Amino acid sequence: MMGGVSDVVTVDGPAASGKSSVATRLAEHLGIPFVSSGLLYRAAAWLTRDDVDPSDPAAVLARLAEHDVALRASPGDNRVLIDGDDVTDALHSDAVDAGVSTVAAHPEVRAWANARLREIEGPFVVDGRDMGRDVFPDARAKLFLTARPEVRAARRVGERAADLAAVADAIRRRDAGDVRQTGPAEDAVTIDTSDLDLDAVVARALAVVQDA
Ligand code: DC
Repeated sequence: MMGGVSDVVTVDGPAASGKSSVATRLAEHLGIPFVSSGLLYRAAAWLTRDDVDPSDPAAVLARLAEHDVALRASPGDNRVLIDGDDVTDALHSDAVDAGVSTVAAHPEVRAWANARLREIEGPFVVDGRDMGRDVFPDARAKLFLTARPEVRAARRVGERAADLAAVADAIRRRDAGDVRQTGPAEDAVTIDTSDLDLDAVVARALAVVQDA
């Protein structure tokens, strides 16, 4: 911390806007770890997937309280340990995608995730929905990435085997579920990534950080 400005860089935006690729590359350039805040919400969705009503915040929170959830960030990698077991590979399934917005919408669950994030020692680049606006208001630089919905769907199809219409539909549903917690800070720089390749977005993001 120097002069009230933290050593955190925030990268926010909707699903498949390019946040995690950009944040990962930005962190590499800066030589600092990357932190994926969405993994904590994914861990909450995974822990409650079978036998907890995801729309009941007290029940979700009770389940979270029964487990030790740790997000370990190292340059190039994020792992989630639940009671010491590495569950990271289970967190990017369609089932978790489908349920995560519901658990993430509860203020109580957001407070739980935000407390975990604020425990992580800087410097780091963090990606999410509301990192610059709500969680790290004193961040040194704040980026907000957007992209047209059809571009986001096409990117996601590249990552998971599925058809474009179904993916576009799932993204629209997740946007609707995430709408309240997704938004730029007043002092964020917004980059529309629709017509830019990854190198170009990273170059712009790096320029924003270096100017900050
Ligand atoms: O970034 P991601 O796709 O891994 O995020 C998974 C979900 O978690 C997403 O649907 C919204 C939620 N999320 C959130 O509400 N706030 C964050 N800071 C990060 C993710």
